[in-house]
Amino acid sequence: MNIVRASNYEDMSKKAAEYVLRKLSEKPDAVLGLATGSTPAGLYEQLIIEHQKRNVSYRQIRTINLDEYIGLPADDENSYHSFMNTQLFRHIDIPLANTHLPNGEAADLPAECSRYEALIDHLGIDLQLLGIGENGHIGFNEPGTSFGQTTHMTTLAESTRQANARFFPSIEAVPQQAITMGIASIMKSREILLMASGRRKAAAIERLMSGETGEDFPASVLHRHPHVTILADEEALSTV
Ligand code: GLP
Repeated sequence: MNIVRASNYEDMSKKAAEYVLRKLSEKPDAVLGLATGSTPAGLYEQLIIEHQKRNVSYRQIRTINLDEYIGLPADDENSYHSFMNTQLFRHIDIPLANTHLPNGEAADLPAECSRYEALIDHLGIDLQLLGIGENGHIGFNEPGTSFGQTTHMTTLAESTRQANARFFPSIEAVPQQAITMGIASIMKSREILLMASGRRKAAAIERLMSGETGEDFPASVLHRHPHVTILADEEALSTV
């Protein structure tokens, strides 16, 4: 596990963008596993700047997102489809056909999970981006999720709904369930970049750095992956 220190959120976002662009210069048609939430938003902003100011093209990349809420229409402003469109896709030259998210409105949700897992296997993720929940969740794999799980439907922890309520009009509006890549799906990626910023994440980063591995703390599985980088800012690393 490689640790990269950043001074603050902006520095973390710039370093993450350098990392992604380095990968794309080696492999212009790379498959990127994407994450949502406040953590990667600054990275996406940097990728847009590179496109607009320096003509970097994302035409050949393919993207596959970690998760989506169940029951929110794709065009709901709080769906992860909308997040990706507004924070990244609509500002760059990636063909929408190259982008993938789980369909949280599928009539047959178990079939949708199987379809998505098959897609992960078919594409093969070169670089998976991750944030981390305060309780150590990755994607929407909450504490207690088996390390063997592939893409599945999950019920969000109450603390996760509370943490994500800031994006919704009220806590009641936060969906109860989501489709998420499983821990085993994430571990199939060739390379993983986990980002963390702010004091809110310090306890999770401290636990992750302790090296102790267990299903009560999903991110700890990353110790079993051969190619992981943790990119965290000073506040997130303040108790390490
Ligand atoms: C959500 C997402 C995760 C994300 C986490 C942290 O629950 N499903 O992928 O890592 O929140 O979010 P933030 O980056 O906003 O702190």
